[in-house]
Amino acid sequence: AGVHPFVGEHQSGITTPVQDHLHLAAFDMSSRATREDLVALLQEWSYAASRLTQGLDVSASGAVAGPLTAPPDDTGEALGLPASSLTITIGLGPTLFELDGVDRFGIADRRPPGLAPLPPFLGDVLKAEASHGDLCVQACADDPQVAVHAVRNLSRIAFGRAHVRWSQMGFGRTSRTTADQATPRNLFGFKDGTANVLADDDAALAESVWVASGDEPAWLTGGSYLVARKIEMLMETWDRVQLGEQQTIVGRDKTIGAPLSGGTEMTAPDFDVEVDGAPAIDVASHVRLAHPDNNGGARLLRRGYNYVDGSNALGRLDAGLFFLAYVRDLEQFVTVQRTLSTDLLNEYVRHIGSATFAIPPGARVGGFVGETLF
Ligand code: HEM
Repeated sequence: AGVHPFVGEHQSGITTPVQDHLHLAAFDMSSRATREDLVALLQEWSYAASRLTQGLDVSASGAVAGPLTAPPDDTGEALGLPASSLTITIGLGPTLFELDGVDRFGIADRRPPGLAPLPPFLGDVLKAEASHGDLCVQACADDPQVAVHAVRNLSRIAFGRAHVRWSQMGFGRTSRTTADQATPRNLFGFKDGTANVLADDDAALAESVWVASGDEPAWLTGGSYLVARKIEMLMETWDRVQLGEQQTIVGRDKTIGAPLSGGTEMTAPDFDVEVDGAPAIDVASHVRLAHPDNNGGARLLRRGYNYVDGSNALGRLDAGLFFLAYVRDLEQFVTVQRTLSTDLLNEYVRHIGSATFAIPPGARVGGFVGETLF
């Protein structure tokens, strides 16, 4: 426990039991970077990631074993800390393949047909500084210092070839990916992640998360797609909503997370149950609208985090859900998000950031993430 290998059929950080802390950074390639720079960057990132995820310094000389006359390879703030379940997951954004019609790295013809920025959704107020990117690095760990150290050192490696476009810290996972993980709560106080695609559900992972052989493109087989949405939550407004109304909005009970149709947390919601002639689970509740039955079976592996970026000038929390979902096809997210256009929850949330990435399969031993692309 505590160490997740970087190499494997799939990248880690997807079905890995969700860690408590996140630092995710989106990068843009420098304007002069070449195809060789991109390949070298992915190789060096993979090598560094394979060390960092074992709790090692970024290189053999690391933080303190190099010459006194040179800046150290590793920044050093993780010295003495264990691997802390660190996973590093690398993604490739739509613009890496083609930016304003320019094929900067000779990979435009390899672009996954479905990889594009998400279409606009009702209520979007997206900010450029929290959206898009040529590449992404998702670092998850049980210790925030370890996650921050990973992103910081990968950014240093990228110097001159790619730079951070935006990054997001998250805490308090808002999902679970294994059955033995207790369901955490989001900042509205509700259990989040009850109904999720779990790591031991091979059939659901094959159906909804991993790109299969036969899907286009072949180089992405064993990979996935990541949707990142920064969703501001209007805490002070929500906090003045009556408890009963909060439960109606979500469609679940706040104490144990049971669906309002009855039972316990893991009881499947029954949308046919009525109370006093009205549906027990409101027709516009979040759970009802997000449920696969309402979306042609579309499912998402959710892996989001709470975030608090401090407070704004009015003293209100600048906080919300950094929603992350892994899917076999981005259309799964689009379908659910469109259905959510009438969600009662919408009055209390605002989507302010959006990004999509293709997640290559895991690296083989001695190889690198993205190798199958070139
Ligand atoms: C379920 C909260 C945004 C998709 C839930 C649950 C809560 C919740 C409390 C019930 C517990 C559970 O089954 O996990 C929130 C909050 C959001 C948000 C506070 C915004 C800040 C989204 C978005 C999507 C989404 C943007 C996808 C487009 C889902 C799905 C489920 C779910 C698929 C499980 C439904 C089921 O199968 O029963 N959410 N959610 N949520 N949510 Fe969200």
